[in-house]
Parts: sequence; structure tokens; C-alpha cells
Amino acid sequence: EKLNITICGGGNGAHTFAGISSLVKNANVTVVTIFENEAERWAETMGKNGFEVKFKGDKKVTIAPEDVKFKVTKEVKSVIPDSDLVVICVPAYTHNIYMNLISPYLNKNCPIVGMPGQPGFEYEALTILKEHGKTNTIMSIETMPWACRIIKYGECVEVLGTKDEVCYTLVDKLGGGTKVGQSHVEDVMQALLGSKPVLSRMENILKYTFLCRPTIHPPIMYAKWKSWDGLPLETPPLFYQGVDEEAVRYLDGLTEEVTQTAAALDNKFPELGFSGVSTMKEWLIDHYSDQISDKSSLLTCLQTNSAYDGLVHPMTKTSDGKFVPDFQYRYTREDVPYGLIVLRQIASMVEVSTPIIDEIIKWAETKLGTQYLKDGKLCNIDRKSGRLPLTYGITTIEEFFQFFK
Ligand code: NAI
Repeated sequence: EKLNITICGGGNGAHTFAGISSLVKNANVTVVTIFENEAERWAETMGKNGFEVKFKGDKKVTIAPEDVKFKVTKEVKSVIPDSDLVVICVPAYTHNIYMNLISPYLNKNCPIVGMPGQPGFEYEALTILKEHGKTNTIMSIETMPWACRIIKYGECVEVLGTKDEVCYTLVDKLGGGTKVGQSHVEDVMQALLGSKPVLSRMENILKYTFLCRPTIHPPIMYAKWKSWDGLPLETPPLFYQGVDEEAVRYLDGLTEEVTQTAAALDNKFPELGFSGVSTMKEWLIDHYSDQISDKSSLLTCLQTNSAYDGLVHPMTKTSDGKFVPDFQYRYTREDVPYGLIVLRQIASMVEVSTPIIDEIIKWAETKLGTQYLKDGKLCNIDRKSGRLPLTYGITTIEEFFQFFK
């Protein structure tokens, strides 16, 4: 039986997933992107030149124009009602845009996958669905399965690394069903992704929030740019491989606050199993085992991970060809409002103090133009400014669990 798979988004991840999943025999893949003129550009370029997914090394999947098996469109209304599965593949700050667009047209048996979902996707998606009278199943995948970058829009994407294993959560709140055709949603997703990464279920949504690790980019950005003199640079500095001892101090400090929070949760709710939240170093080794050549410290794990080869700080070019940091890039714009502030609220729910997280949030506020912390307390922000549990009416750990009951 053919399954209608809809991918929402038009960036790096959407390119990679469209190329890979469209080769699966029973998948009828459609990409929906409503951003600017992406749909037209992608469809036109692919129609002329075909599509290619290049894997680091020699392997590549080249699809000639006449063999391309997926469509690209900006039409939501005509595609969504017949979708058997919708996979949202965009930065978290656009999840609400896609959820609001697709919710009116979804059929009730169509699960929605956030790939990645990241902290708070489950309660944001459920809230928007509910506002449209829907209760579709939600699957949230912790991170993008690949490190990937578009080489040529609508035509070629490069996969720099593939994760070995990624976690996901599944919320079937009112028993709407987790099946896509004859199979369960997780089996369909695994078939679409191929053998790697292995999808592994987490029952505990709160614990999953910890494992999403929105904790890597903000401390690296902060350490690099907090004392920046404002002068443009000749070349963009390396991002992961360029970390120094100071960045590692913030990365470790932040991880420590997260593990302290996990320990406090474990203490309070021993039956839920919050123990074993890994450190940043362990997380990197788990996800990139073959690609890290020196596993001796967090610093070397970052500096010698070949999946990070050549990845630089997000920069914009000045008129005279120099570079200044781009603080609107997702490393701050996504990972703070859709990451760190969520962890910050969970920490405060179990009374763990978070001086390092707070220091980074206070810096990010100046770049993002939203106030998240006032007098050491989280402010209630609007939904477009981030995904704080309290914005969705969740103020205690008990309410967090109750939300998904
Ligand atoms: P991307 O940066 O390529 O996404 C940009 C795309 O998002 C645009 O092309 C557009 O289709 C959409 N978009 C942006 N602003 C929009 C707006 N205002 N309205 C509607 N659509 C809009 O993102 P990418 O790389 O595909 O990543 C997606 C998610 O995966 C992010 O959360 C990212 O942090 C995460 N991720 C990505 C990795 C990668 O290597 N690409 C690795 C790990 C995680």
C-alpha cells in the first residue's frame, strides 16, 4: 500500500529527508514549504537538474530529473487532508506557523512528527491541535538524524554525519491511534530513515526534554562573543572545532546544572527514572562514536569530531567582505527560547539554582529583544517568543505530567 508522506519545511533537513525517504518503495512523498518562494525555486531547479544527497566520503544518491519521486509545493489545503503522516522539519520557532496552517486540514488518523521536535514540541502541538478540535498523535524526535547542509538549493544537500541513535517520545493522548496504514508510526519513520539512526523510544517526556540538549550552541556562542569588540572578522571562526577552555567551562557548568536538576527530579520522583542523564561528553560519544578521533575530554570530543569538519560560527557578510556574528541564527534564536528557558523552568520547579544558564539567558535577551528573566524569575512570555511551560499553563512538575494524561 502507498503511504502519503508530507514533509513540512524547506531547509537542510527537509532536503535530506525528502531525498532519502522518496526512495522508499511505498512512500509517496510531498514537500510543503510556505516560506518565501522556496517551493517554486526547489520545484524548478529539481525539474531541470534532478536531486542529489551527497554523503561525506564517496557515497551519494543521485536522482535524475525524470526519476525524482517527490513533489514540492506550497499548497497546504490540497496536500494535508490526504496525508497519512506529516513530518515537520523546520527550526522550532516556526513549529507554531506550520501547526496552525495544517491543523484545520488534518485527518484524525494522521500522526504528526516533529523532526526534530525539541523541548516543548509536545505541549505546543497538542495545544494548537486542541484549538482546532483535533487530538492527533504526536511524535517528537530529539534531534535531526543528520548533520546536513544544502549545497545548492533544491538540487543538492550534503550529509556530514549520521547519528547512530536518536530518541523520541510518542503522545497518543485520547487514543487517536499511532498507526500509519498497517504499521506503527515509529516503524514507518524508521523505514523512511533507513537503518541509521536507530529510533529509540523514551516514555518519560520530561526526561526527554533533558536529552534534547539545547545546551551546546548557546554556551559556545556566549563564550565566543560575550566580550566581542564589535569589529568585523576576516573569516568566520570554526564553531565546534574552535572551542576553547572557556567555552568548555560554560558547557560543563550548564551540563552540571542540568544533571543537578535531573538528580533533584530523581529524588522527588524515584519511580520515573531520571537517573543516568549523561554528560555532554557522553552524549557526543553516544551520537558520534565513529567520528570522534580523540575521546579523552569534552574539548577534544568537540575539536576532533569529523561530523563537525568545517562548521563555522553563524556570520553575516559586511559590505566590505568581512564577517560579523549572526545572533538571529537558530543557535541563539532557537536554542534559548525553545531550549534553555524550558530547562530553566524545570530547574526552578525543583528548586535547583542555575547561575550559568541565567548568565547565558541574560546575554541572549540582549540579542533577541525579549525579556525572559526579571529579578531572577522567569517572565510569562507570549507564545511567539518561546515555549515556556508556564505559557501553556504548566507551572509545576505535577501539571507537566498531568498535561499528557
Ligand atoms: P534550516 O536552517 O535549514 O531551516 C530553514 C528553513 O526553515 C527555511 O528554509 C524555511 O523552509 C523554514 N523557515 C524559516 N523561517 C520560516 C518562517 N518564518 N516561516 C516558515 N518557514 C520558515 O533548518 P535545518 O538545518 O533543516 O534544521 C531544522 C531543525 O533541525 C532545527 O531545529 C535545527 O536546530 C535542527 N538540527 C539541524 C541540524 C543540521 O545539521 N541541519 C543538526 C541538528 C539539529
